[in-house]
Amino acid sequence: MITKPKGTYDLLGVDGKLYNYITNVFEGYMVNYNYEFIRTPIFESTELYKRGVGEDTDMVSKETYDFTDRAGRSNTLRPEGTAGVVRSLIENKLYGNNNGPIKLYYCGTMYRYERPQAGRYRELTQFGVEVFNSNDPLSDAEVISLGANMLKELGLEDITVAINTIGDNASRKAYGLALREYLKPHLSELCEDCQRRFETNPLRILDCKVDKDNEIFKNIPKIKDFLSEDSKKRYSKVKELLANLDIDYEEDDSLVRGLDYYDENVWEYKNKNGLAVGGGGRYNHLVENLGGPDMPAVGFAFGVDRLMLELKELLEGKEYKNNIDVYIMSISEEEKMHAITIAQNLRLNSVSCEINSNDLSMKSQFKEADKNSAKFIIILNNEDLKKGLINVKDNATKEEVKVSEDEIVDYILGVI
Ligand code: HAM
Repeated sequence: MITKPKGTYDLLGVDGKLYNYITNVFEGYMVNYNYEFIRTPIFESTELYKRGVGEDTDMVSKETYDFTDRAGRSNTLRPEGTAGVVRSLIENKLYGNNNGPIKLYYCGTMYRYERPQAGRYRELTQFGVEVFNSNDPLSDAEVISLGANMLKELGLEDITVAINTIGDNASRKAYGLALREYLKPHLSELCEDCQRRFETNPLRILDCKVDKDNEIFKNIPKIKDFLSEDSKKRYSKVKELLANLDIDYEEDDSLVRGLDYYDENVWEYKNKNGLAVGGGGRYNHLVENLGGPDMPAVGFAFGVDRLMLELKELLEGKEYKNNIDVYIMSISEEEKMHAITIAQNLRLNSVSCEINSNDLSMKSQFKEADKNSAKFIIILNNEDLKKGLINVKDNATKEEVKVSEDEIVDYILGVI
């Protein structure tokens, strides 16, 4: 038997329902918040992630799926969505004459060669938003609160919004120097990757998965002591705005995020075990670094797979059933002909229904109606059909009425 690749899963059954529920709720929010949909390719040139996300990040140095195509080009399955969206923004000149913010959202699979475990997959789905062309802390607060509100709408109340600032370029430069100073005497205790990062990008040492429990990290300098006045002010403003919006948050001064493009405010949405179900931040230099204009940006992405796990836990013990409005019962060929026609008429009027297309007995059809939680059951029989009549049973009260076949759609629309 050929089996699925390690770290992947088939989306079906209850998972399929949860996935659709989550993405439908989120899509609704995108309309309210005035975002436009964007879809970018699942693979991009390897160069995009090296330049965009950073060669020193774990994601790019260890977790990408790279392949050379038949013409010898080096491509990478996207490990995240932001770099591709920025590439598209630049390539399609989406910024044009736009003075207002450019607000985009996406939903799609990403690929990371990570060690699979609960909530960590090699094929994962992200639902993300990116806002370009606004450097106002108002946008940070709007985007952070959008994510918090989306989670509440799903019914996930037990999520913490952890926020931090990693400051502007000047702050990070000063911090980088302090980190080097502190880590220099301990260099030999760090892993090989971190020894390299010490030279190239010391901030990346902070999210090393190998060294994270090393004693030397206990007293490591914190970015908050190296912030420029501007970065401090911006961070305070975002906190003030969040408080105004009634968004609870926790400050976490060890939160630095694992990708190189961030600056200023960063945040994560964490479950009660500290696992991030989403994360994001401001990235004011990525557009320019990838060859576009000097354009500020802020955004985040949810891990949809992790949200599904959260919801599953929340709904544990509850039975999942399909929910339809009407089940139409039929046995004879004549009854079946009427059943499929009535079903079409109902469905065209937004009434959900199911018919017997498996030659089931009456008893089995009643079971099917219950399995689908049908609100009403239409029971067809040849005699009544000859008189143009249909039996409709309210599946909750068990009351039955006869309705004219011509008026069945109006009748059902009136009672559901
Ligand atoms: P990220 O923190 O790498 O950020 O990923 C965002 C979310 O994707 C995580 O919080 C997590 O829920 C989910 N995720 C990541 N890796 C896995 C995995 N292996 N299995 C399951 N879920 C996973 C980004 O990707 C940024 N592009 C977010 C962003 C958008 N920043 C600005 N704009």
